[in-house]
Amino acid sequence: MEEKAKIVLDGKTYEFPVETGTENEKAIDISKFRAQTSYVMLDNGFGNTGACKSAITFLDGEKGILRYRGIPIEQIAEKSTFVETAYLLINGQLPTDAQLASFASSFTEHAALLPDMLNFFKAYPKDGHPMGLLSSMVCSLSGYHPELLKPDLSEEEIQLMAAKLLSKVRTITAYTYKKSIGEDFVPPRDDLKYISNFLHMMFSTKDKEYDRHDAVVNALEALLILHADHEQNCSTSTVRLIGSSWANLFASVSGGVSALWGPLHGGANQKVVEMLEEIQAAGGDIHKFIEKAKDPDDNYRLMGFGHRVYKNFDPRATIIKKRCHDLFETLGIQDPLLDIAVKLEAAVLKDDYFSERRLYPNVDFYSGLIYKAIGIPTKMFPVLFAIGRMPGWIAHWKEMKADPRSRIGRPRQIYVGLNERDYVPRDQR
Ligand code: CMC
Repeated sequence: MEEKAKIVLDGKTYEFPVETGTENEKAIDISKFRAQTSYVMLDNGFGNTGACKSAITFLDGEKGILRYRGIPIEQIAEKSTFVETAYLLINGQLPTDAQLASFASSFTEHAALLPDMLNFFKAYPKDGHPMGLLSSMVCSLSGYHPELLKPDLSEEEIQLMAAKLLSKVRTITAYTYKKSIGEDFVPPRDDLKYISNFLHMMFSTKDKEYDRHDAVVNALEALLILHADHEQNCSTSTVRLIGSSWANLFASVSGGVSALWGPLHGGANQKVVEMLEEIQAAGGDIHKFIEKAKDPDDNYRLMGFGHRVYKNFDPRATIIKKRCHDLFETLGIQDPLLDIAVKLEAAVLKDDYFSERRLYPNVDFYSGLIYKAIGIPTKMFPVLFAIGRMPGWIAHWKEMKADPRSRIGRPRQIYVGLNERDYVPRDQR
């Protein structure tokens, strides 16, 4: 028998269908709720609202499970590459050798920036935050490709846009860095793979090729994979919401970059390292900072802790913590910030305030220390998150476009402002 949910309002009973996902997740379908009852559902922060059905990523925050297209994140991080993961997320299946080779070669083809686009770097302030430039340049791709702005794109055209985004985002990031340190741009090389090419553009100079250590390539590969998708998070929901108006993929993803920038989301990796530096500068007393985060009259938060969905542990954080220790050991790096991070984590895990609220280290807690060890400046950490999240944004935009049930996103509200009143002429106020 079809499961129904009953809701009683003003003495009248209404029935709504119950939907069950492939992992047995339950939802009440309230799409006809307002039409039938004239009420709306109020859900600040959308903590209880399912905005779509999606077949891309499954996560269970209670059990610490994360799977891309059904495959556990632990296996993907161990065995796959970022490019293969991007293919999996965007196209639904692991690629064959031929599919992977053609997908990877499209990145080589689209890695360079049009000469006109180089003017963006000249115009943007040298010390401006790189996320502002990334968001603008991603959106500006729409200006260079007017033929890709129509709402009814073919599969080939979507793949082309995906290749341009995934490939150019690396070049934009590396050139932003070069501009910030006053060095010449280093163009992409056709013979290098995705991560190596990025490191080459970042750290080679016109006189000296960057010496890529396998441990660095592998650590960055794992980090990008772990960031590649996370279902309906703030930036991905933003991409879907923008795309729901039939805005093009470049414009939608540009909005995703802006949403990701915030310190409660992808900007947290930058804030974690700044927080650890602040603790170090203050003499290393972690308890002072823990007490500040617990003070109800202070809105200070420990960055890198807590998650809307994960309530036991973040499986990405577990992998990243291990990768961080491995990288430091392999490269023989001693970073006092790592010692502070380890102490802070241990103290937080023992503290009732954090355990009662189920606040654990999240993906951003150790990732910044890896970026720092690689030589990426702190301000660029959220950009690295954006490169990683690109496949997820593209996959969700594509899924939304293909879903016949998709409608323009348009939440309701409860108005709590003034009741009707007359306009008062300026000389009588
Ligand atoms: N430090 C101290 N207290 C915290 C923290 C924190 N990091 N996070 C949440 N709380 C407290 C919060 O003050 C509230 O306490 P009370 O119930 O007494 O008012 C309670 O925990 C619940 O917090 P919330 O803000 O209602 O939780 P949320 O689900 O809306 O927010 C969050 C999730 C990730 C925004 C939040 O935990 C946070 O601000 N963390 C720090 C920033 C951070 O690390 N963000 C990266 C998230 S993972 C990457 C990504 O996918 O975006």
